[in-house]
Amino acid sequence: MEIKVSFKDISNEDKIYKNLYDGKWVESNSDKLIEIKSPINGELLGKVQSMSKEEVDLAIKNSKEAQKLWAEVPINRRAAILYRAAEILEQNANELAEMLVLEIAKDKRGAIAEVYRTIDYIKFTADSAKQLEGETIPGDSFPGTKKNKISFVTRVPLGVVLAISPFNYPVNLAASKIAPALAAGNAVFFKPPTQGSISGLYLAEIFNKAGLPDGVLNTVTGRGSEIGDYCVTHPDIDFINFTGSTEVGKRISNITTMKPVLLELGGKDAAIVLEDADLDEAADNIVAGGYSYSGQRCTAVKRILVMDSVADELVAKVKTKVAKLEVGDPREEGTVVGPLINGKACDFVMELIEDAKEKGAELVIGGNREGNIVYPTLFDKVDTNMRLAWEEPFGPVLPVIRVKSIDEAIGIANESSYGLQSSVFTKNIDAAFYIANKLEVGTVQVNNKPERGPDHFPFLGVKASGMGTQGIRYSIEAMSRPKAIVLNLGAVE
Ligand code: NAP
Ligand code: G3H
Repeated sequence: MEIKVSFKDISNEDKIYKNLYDGKWVESNSDKLIEIKSPINGELLGKVQSMSKEEVDLAIKNSKEAQKLWAEVPINRRAAILYRAAEILEQNANELAEMLVLEIAKDKRGAIAEVYRTIDYIKFTADSAKQLEGETIPGDSFPGTKKNKISFVTRVPLGVVLAISPFNYPVNLAASKIAPALAAGNAVFFKPPTQGSISGLYLAEIFNKAGLPDGVLNTVTGRGSEIGDYCVTHPDIDFINFTGSTEVGKRISNITTMKPVLLELGGKDAAIVLEDADLDEAADNIVAGGYSYSGQRCTAVKRILVMDSVADELVAKVKTKVAKLEVGDPREEGTVVGPLINGKACDFVMELIEDAKEKGAELVIGGNREGNIVYPTLFDKVDTNMRLAWEEPFGPVLPVIRVKSIDEAIGIANESSYGLQSSVFTKNIDAAFYIANKLEVGTVQVNNKPERGPDHFPFLGVKASGMGTQGIRYSIEAMSRPKAIVLNLGAVE
């Protein structure tokens, strides 16, 4: 049966978006509203409510109660609700993708891809949840233990999961927390990014319409800087699943005590290009990796470390491709680089550009700004004294750092405080493995740009890029724990 979800279902006539509480969309008592304007043209898309601490308390209490019943629901029934959510999401894919374009200025193709990837994510989560197995462990394999002990190990949920997602994937990085958490039997208290909340709330309604019991998914809106600390330190939150900046991730890690967290944070992914690399393939990947969605991806290529002997050729190829990128309104077919999420983000990118210029980097292309659009920018001969060598711009700007040896590339790559992913471009499998083994990152891509997917692969950052592992099965495991029941058999008289 087709179910149409409308933005009107979750907002009032003044386009004030409500919150999902106990299966219904309710208005907050707080009269503090946050305007959500499109980064494309400043059009007012709606307003979200700044929930009070008392409302957060009520909602989390409701989640806690609902979770007890949800934990008792058989996995095949939980999975059926997830399949239904995926189906409803597919029926409403275009409407949601259109909002994504407006709300976070994602290009049309990227917005549609985000929604369809989420549909697959939810389905695969349901498949995986059904395949989760327990184990029985005989005691006598451990020295000194008799044959009469057997441990029956199953997985049980953690309780209430606080899911906090970032602006750049308000649908996918919300669903990739919500679906595995639900599959594992948790209730979810979902905080969407403020810029991205309308899309996030719409996703919540899709889960709601799929038949989730009341209270199993509740939402909270309000600025993270105001309500975030209260939520993450709330005694009834049992797990925090956070994706966002390293700054906020570190803060969460500092202020929470004895609370398990999964943190997926910023990155400074390097593309290391060796002498024997297919330079066309490397350039294609670097441009797609560095500039898609205006560089606002945690896994964007954020620096190029290239062997001196092939640097001129690679830079020329990258320049040619960058020059062809379509810049402008993300509502137009083909646009790759559009306005950044806000003016502050643009100011920051421009600071890094100015720093590189002042310190003598060679501007190959770009470097200019028009409104909140930063033109795709490439710098050559960036050195390690420049901010661009180390800081994450989260915008369409790429530094080329020329290196003389593989070990110099590894050294510079590892000097970064970040450790999300890296790419190595080479035809020499021995060199690829030598480098991959030494890089301090969660994942090394050989002859491809850094990327999170496919979503059943493990995805993780080390150092300042995160803690814990995402990926469908990994996420379900992260949001559940083993429960052991040990059978101690007595002697038969
Ligand atoms: P952000 O500013 O850290 O915000 C992320 C989320 O945290 C938002 O929902 C935000 O709410 C909330 N928040 C802010 N302060 C908080 C606090 N004190 N306590 C709890 N929550 C708080 O990040 P962003 O600008 O949305 O996203 C860009 C960053 O995320 C980049 O650094 C990027 O690399 C990283 N990222 C990493 C991954 C990954 O998987 N490794 C994926 C995507 C993005 P408000 O919106 O209300 O402020
Ligand atoms: O922005 C961070 C995302 O986790 C990256 O996902 O590599 O699929 O764009 P992606």
